[in-house]
This record gives sequence, C-alpha cells and structure tokens, in this order.
Amino acid sequence: MLTSATEMLQKARAGKYAVGQFNINNLEWTKAILLTAQELNSPVILGVSEGAGKYMCGFETVAAMVAAMDKSLGITVPVALHLDHGSYEACYKCIKAGFTSIMFDGSHFPIDENVAKTTELVNAAHNLGLSIEAEVGAIGGEEDGVIGKGECADPAECKQIADLGVDFLAAGIGNIHGVYPANWEGLSFETLEAINKTVGEMPLVLHGGTGIPDDQITKAISLGVAKINVNTECQLVFAEATRGYVEAGKDKQGKGFDPRKLLAPGFEAIKAKVKEKMELFGSVNKA
Ligand code: 13P
Repeated sequence: MLTSATEMLQKARAGKYAVGQFNINNLEWTKAILLTAQELNSPVILGVSEGAGKYMCGFETVAAMVAAMDKSLGITVPVALHLDHGSYEACYKCIKAGFTSIMFDGSHFPIDENVAKTTELVNAAHNLGLSIEAEVGAIGGEEDGVIGKGECADPAECKQIADLGVDFLAAGIGNIHGVYPANWEGLSFETLEAINKTVGEMPLVLHGGTGIPDDQITKAISLGVAKINVNTECQLVFAEATRGYVEAGKDKQGKGFDPRKLLAPGFEAIKAKVKEKMELFGSVNKA
C-alpha cells in the first residue's frame, strides 16, 4: 500500500525501531524488497537516486512500475516511494510523477539557501500529502555521482532545518556511502546525542547503512534514528550471487541462460539481505 513515510517513521521513532530504505535499480530489486516486506509484515521505503531514476527511464516510469507492482503483488504493508538525495529540480519531478516522499539534499548549499529551498519544498510536498526529508552535514563518500565530505552536522543547524516542518532529518554523524574504509572511526554518538536533544521527536535518518556494525546500528536507533538507508550491501550480494551462478557454469546447463534463471540467485540474495536488515532494525511485524 503506497503511502507517505511520515506516519511509519513517527511510529518507528516512538517504538524505538527503524524502517529500512532500500534503494531500487530495476524490476527484480523492487519485487524482492516488496515481497520481503510483505512476508515479514514490515513497513518499507523504496529509495530512488537520480541516477537510478534515469537508468529506469525516468521518475514517471519508476512511479508507474511501483504502483502497478504494489497492486499486482497485493502488498498491504505501508510502502513509501522516496526520492534519495534529490536536487531541487528532481524533487519537483518526483512530486509530479507520483512519488509519495522526497528527500531534498541541500546540504551543499550555504545554510540560508538550504533553508529557503527546503521551506518551499516542504510546502509543495505537504500540499500533495508527500513526506519530505532534508539533510544537514554532508554524508561522506559517493552515491551515483553525489559526493559528500562526511562532516558531522551542527546541532543548531539541524534544529533550524527541523523547525521548517520537514518530516525526518538526515544528519551527518561520520557515516559514509559505500563500503567503509578500514580506518573509519565509527559513528559519532556524541554528535547524534546532541542532535537528538535539539530536534525533539523528529525521526532521524542514518544514511550509509552498508557495513555499519550491528551494535552501532542498535545504539543509533536508541538515540532517535528511525530510518536507515541501505544500498551498496544489496548490490554486493546481488553481484556475488550472480557471479556464483555463472562461475559454476549454470548458465550453460540446459536453459540456464534464461534471464529469469540467471537473475534468480541475485533476487534471492537481495531478499535474504533485506530480511536480515529488517530483523536487525526491528521493523518486523510493525506494519
Ligand atoms: P550505502 O550504499 O552505503 O548503503 O548507503 C545508502 C544510502 O545512504 C542511500 O542514500
């Protein structure tokens, strides 16, 4: 059931668990995530980066595919279709295309410009019942061409953006997109605690979910994180499972080259990874 992410994240924050945002790349990805959410009776957020949106022929195609799949699979758990790290222009495109949630990533603008653009987009999103995420303090690493330095957010700026009426807030706390380097120092809980104190009941978002140790995930949830984004980890298990199939020569046995067979191990690997994350985040049976 397609819905905005506001209610599911308010409930998660109050219930001390987190809802996973899993980024989608194609039909297999979307189907694997939706079916797992339904099987586990968990709310879920489908993340779409601008790059992935372009790859899938644009936001309109994505919105049409997700709406039709949600209906055809008989999905009853809450599902939000969310723009990930959107530019100002992409936010408007997704509002028009039928997304149920957007993220405006104004973190690279000076704070005054971030405030002005976020304010405008909060109104545009809320007028049509969409939820909106904003970001303060860039998330490190690179995702689909969006590059961030990985700085920790300033709690006062978080409060300023939270007060604009955004529904959930991504704050940099030393997290990085992609695989963490061996010398990564871990999440800054000092920063998270300070932000959590200043923003009240605002659900906080943890980007760069891939590779964060389980105990740090659990601690982050206890300090107000209610949405955790996972992208790279699904890509890694998909690639590994597909490689295993090909290296075992299975594509050369009988009709093993059939794309429905070739992509099946990767599909199952995504399902298993999403299940593992939903169990860790505590969102099972919370639909
Ligand atoms: P990872 O690719 O590190 O899991 O990060 C995902 C993310 O934060 C999407 O915005």
